[in-house]
Amino acid sequence: MTSAIRSTSNDNIVWHTHQIDKAHRAKQKNQQPCVLWFTGLSGAGKSTIAGALEHRLAEMGYHTYLLDGDNVRHGLCQDLGFSTEDRRENIRRIGEVAKLMADAGLIVLSAFISPHRHERRLVRDMLPSGEFLEVFVDTPLDECERRDPKGLYKKARAGEIKQFTGIDSEYEQPLNAEIHLAAGNQDVQKLVDLCVDALTARKIIE
Ligand code: ADX
Repeated sequence: MTSAIRSTSNDNIVWHTHQIDKAHRAKQKNQQPCVLWFTGLSGAGKSTIAGALEHRLAEMGYHTYLLDGDNVRHGLCQDLGFSTEDRRENIRRIGEVAKLMADAGLIVLSAFISPHRHERRLVRDMLPSGEFLEVFVDTPLDECERRDPKGLYKKARAGEIKQFTGIDSEYEQPLNAEIHLAAGNQDVQKLVDLCVDALTARKIIE
């Protein structure tokens, strides 16, 4: 990623307002768009829970899209690694994509470690108040390491992967997540129930 791309000036670019707007697209889908931002350690269960919640929402007739860290890093963010700077750029891009998808009227679910409060705050601030819901998938490090679904903790402990979150790269826990899932040994469907209840209480779904 070159700094020249990042510092491109917007001085000569004018925003164009189109006839069909976010409200129109959301009304067509009969839903209220939002971004459910799952954050937590690798192996915490973010993708699994977000996937199960998306399945539940789809069954209820809602229009959704799931953005997943490992998948996005195969395409949109394939040029990025795991330095603090690259993670920041990763989250910035995902934030912009999530915002576009919410603008399309969708309920967006995103599953990224997103280890820094600052970046999560930047994404929150991209969206109208109440449209960004932080979901903290709170699985203790020792449980994530025990699961180690991709064998990455083992490699990180052996020094084969550097800057691994929770090992030699920090994870800043959310302080005020809208949804806090104690996900250590909870059944996935129960965690999905908690998310559905939180969305219902906020009148995002019925
Ligand atoms: S983030 O920190 O930039 O938000 P992201 O969610 O996109 O990370 O990607 C995390 C996934 O990349 C992990 O689930 C894991 O499979 C893989 N990965 C590979 N190297 C690392 C690393 N150094 N730290 C964390 N995850 C890594």
